[in-house]
Amino acid sequence: MPRVQIIEMSLRDGLQNEVTHLSVGQRFSLIKKLNDAGIRRMEIGAFVSPTWVPQMSESGKLIKKVLRAQKMRRLHKETHFSALVPNRKGLETALESGIKEIAVFGAASETFSQRNINCSISQSLKKFEEVIKEARANKIKVRGYLSTVFGCPYEGAVSQAKVIKLVEKYLAMGVYEISLGDTIGVATPKQVREILNKVLKMSNSSKIAMHFHDTRGTAIANILASLDLGIRKFDTSLGGLGGCPYAPGAAGNVATEDVVYMLHGMGYTTGLDLQKLIKTTQWMSRQVGRQLPSKLSLTGG
Ligand code: HMG
Ligand code: MG
Repeated sequence: MPRVQIIEMSLRDGLQNEVTHLSVGQRFSLIKKLNDAGIRRMEIGAFVSPTWVPQMSESGKLIKKVLRAQKMRRLHKETHFSALVPNRKGLETALESGIKEIAVFGAASETFSQRNINCSISQSLKKFEEVIKEARANKIKVRGYLSTVFGCPYEGAVSQAKVIKLVEKYLAMGVYEISLGDTIGVATPKQVREILNKVLKMSNSSKIAMHFHDTRGTAIANILASLDLGIRKFDTSLGGLGGCPYAPGAAGNVATEDVVYMLHGMGYTTGLDLQKLIKTTQWMSRQVGRQLPSKLSLTGG
């Protein structure tokens, strides 16, 4: 049966936008529960400014705790953890934490780039080039994110030609995978097909992941369109937790359990236990003090 990989975002994309800040202990409990539900890839922190995103502070402490637990076999040995790194300073702290995978994150629109990482697109590419080179010299895998692929909260429409050029640049800089972000949840399947048809002319589908926020309820349809074109990697967030602090009004990533329900029903395998995911969402709702938006956690399965 065809396999789909879920890259779990709740600990980073999810928590970075929550009013309730979770402690390292609470975040570790979530990681353990997700690991026990079968998640094998998760982004668990960000080496960014604690003034800009206080929710991600102590990411280094969390990562050290996680890697210690994995050594003691409290977490599956095949679970891969990653964290965001915007610049050299972030890379230094990432290296110190012992993490084996990082992700650089840029945008396809200038205003979003400025608001999110305080530099232009071309400045960001220069920073990433250095970070990627140094990370790879330290045997650290690097993922790339491209935000605002389908639209920008400040500029509106984004040129597809610009997106394609940037995807090409990221791949040439040495990211092993690029995640195409619908940061504000405006994409529709037609647009997804248009962009992916172009992207897949220059890259194998194994290097492409899709990252849909579900602001307007089109994320599941967009995943279906991506599946039809051979994409097998999706960034999702337990319960639909999150948003983006620099994309006002944007909802969280599409909910992990809602995507997994659809995939299993269509005959795809994910290695995930749906009931355990739902239970974890219910636990998570209590931690953040609100009902999370996933559909499946309301029906119970
Ligand atoms: P900056 O202000 O331009 O950095 O921030 P700077 O080099 O001018 O330094 C200013 C201060 O920040 C200094 O501290 C630095 O030490 C510190 P001071 O001397 O004033 O005390 N600093 C740092 N501290 C910790 N870690 C660092 C770091 N770098 C500098 N790495 C920076 C640049 C990128 C750090 C800042 O703009 C920032 O933290 N932005 C937040 C970015 C972020 O986390 N955004 C949310 C995630 S992206 C996202 O959600 C989209 C995604 O999900 C895909 C999608 O949906 O599209 C990935
Ligand atoms: Mg995102």
